[in-house]
Amino acid sequence: MAFHSKYVCQQCGYESTGWMGKCPECGTWNSLVETVVSIGKGQGIKGKRGLNTFVSKPIKLSEIKQITTKRISTKISELDRVLGGGLVPGQAVLIAGEPGIGKSTLLTQLAASLSTGDKTSSTVLYVCGEESATQVKVRADRLGVKKSGIELLEDTDVDSVINTIDGFKGQSLQAVIVDSVQTMTTSDLSGMAGSVGQVRECAFRLLKEAKSLGIPLFLVGHVTKEGTVAGPAVLTHIVDTVLWFEGDKTLTTRVLRAVKNRFGPTDEVGVFEMEDRGLRPVDDVERVFLEKDQKHVSGSVATSVMQGTRPILVEIQALIVPTKMVIPRRVAQGIDSRRLELLLAVLTRRCGLPLYDSDVFVNVAGGLKVTEPATDLAICLAIASAYFDKPISAKIIAVGEIGLLGEIREVVAQAKRVKEASRLGFTTAITSKDFDYVGETIKKLLK
Ligand code: TYD
Ligand code: MG
Repeated sequence: MAFHSKYVCQQCGYESTGWMGKCPECGTWNSLVETVVSIGKGQGIKGKRGLNTFVSKPIKLSEIKQITTKRISTKISELDRVLGGGLVPGQAVLIAGEPGIGKSTLLTQLAASLSTGDKTSSTVLYVCGEESATQVKVRADRLGVKKSGIELLEDTDVDSVINTIDGFKGQSLQAVIVDSVQTMTTSDLSGMAGSVGQVRECAFRLLKEAKSLGIPLFLVGHVTKEGTVAGPAVLTHIVDTVLWFEGDKTLTTRVLRAVKNRFGPTDEVGVFEMEDRGLRPVDDVERVFLEKDQKHVSGSVATSVMQGTRPILVEIQALIVPTKMVIPRRVAQGIDSRRLELLLAVLTRRCGLPLYDSDVFVNVAGGLKVTEPATDLAICLAIASAYFDKPISAKIIAVGEIGLLGEIREVVAQAKRVKEASRLGFTTAITSKDFDYVGETIKKLLK
């Protein structure tokens, strides 16, 4: 089959043989993306469908044999959880995250747990396009990985990588890891490594190979500053599973989040801690997000946030100091600063807390980013507790959304969150069932 490439406008489909800054057809800037066109047996050039005489045969749904998907455990508990119970043969997983967050660390640990020490049995192929094999070895040493079942391949040419994978036929290849997909190129395209066309084509070729051999494939994808996987959404569509690896780089907590999963639930999260000998799965997540020891300090309230199907208990901390500025400062870490402004307005107007001459600082302990309105009540109570300088018992958990009237509203999975909290030793839950307005709650607890 012969290959040649064309530049195709992503907006209107205009085709050109060379790159142009602006599409002459629809006028969009930078919309022409290099695309491989293959001309082979039975395949006409796009737009000349009439030449194609092949007919595909459909299969009856009822005639398709049911196969139970065999899951392969990665032996990393939190990764298994995010994948929905383990890997499926031929599954293509994209692990996206900012540089330095720990993607290579996680995948080196994965390679170690999927391979065996013995060369002849289970092998994992680790394609290092980004680092040299020596650099990977240094990391592996740090992680205490000594397995001979991991084979490193220093290559960035996707076609030669695929040929190498082919060469493993007959041996039990457990997984292929490509670190990272942005370094891969094919000579069939003239674009630079990391360009949309190259990333898409390389990922597609690797995927086809993995599917045909039934081997799980892991692709590392770097995220640009704007938060998109470089070679944007194109990769999200072609892979089976997209996992985002995130966390504050200055802290040790890392969260692995499934945003797409053809073989399991989405929105599931796994929590890890980056230690000096690699990532450690955290089962008792409360230990990370709850500062249980600080019992009698004002400005701290526990709440529960849903991460997928799992309620995670977090601690909201607030600090109030008299301002020296004309416009007082409002600093929010881990919560949306506009949400904080809104809650401060409710506290000032509906609960009579004169916060207009105070600087307000709110933080989510453990570095988790919370977007749910279910934390509103805890934020308000933490601020009020800091304002009156009266601690709220560490046995209390507050869950509820606050409206502009100061009313407490019920939130999704409220019962589940309360149940989980009581399992972990919280004796009192404050929700919309106990109080109608946040003002009442403050009066009851703090005045
Ligand atoms: P890395 O996996 O190289 O990140 P990525 O592949 O996402 O770019 O990890 C980078 C950081 O992790 C680096 O700053 C060092 C730190 N680290 C540890 O803290 N402990 C470890 O055991 C390892 C291997 C790395
Ligand atoms: Mg890396």
